[in-house]
Amino acid sequence: MIGRLNHVAIAVPDLETAAEQYRGALGATVGSPQNEPSHGVTVIFVELPNTKIELLSPLGENSPINGFLEKNPSGGIHHLCYEVEDILMARDHLKATGARVLGTGEPRIGAHGKPVLFLHPKDFNGCLVELEQI
Ligand code: CO
Repeated sequence: MIGRLNHVAIAVPDLETAAEQYRGALGATVGSPQNEPSHGVTVIFVELPNTKIELLSPLGENSPINGFLEKNPSGGIHHLCYEVEDILMARDHLKATGARVLGTGEPRIGAHGKPVLFLHPKDFNGCLVELEQI
């Protein structure tokens, strides 16, 4: 059911420092910061030949990234995003297998303007999973 790995998201304590590291030390193509107020994050996408890296930093006091960075002050892998063709079909299939969908269970519009859902990390080996309809 899942398709390509759309991106790996890394929560970072300093977005500009992380972006410069990917641009300079790693020589990657790095985009501009985008504020996503509805998700409480500012993101920068790093374009790789086969996937993307999403550098995530908190936006606002209620950001879901704040708690993650408190536990992981130097940053860390926050989630993996897999592509699906039909997000509602994927959601219903996963729920039927016992997986928990976070939030209301209804897709929201993600950083690429496409519908996304998140799955509970405890149901996926400790890894927060994002599904994005392509
Ligand atoms: Co993501």
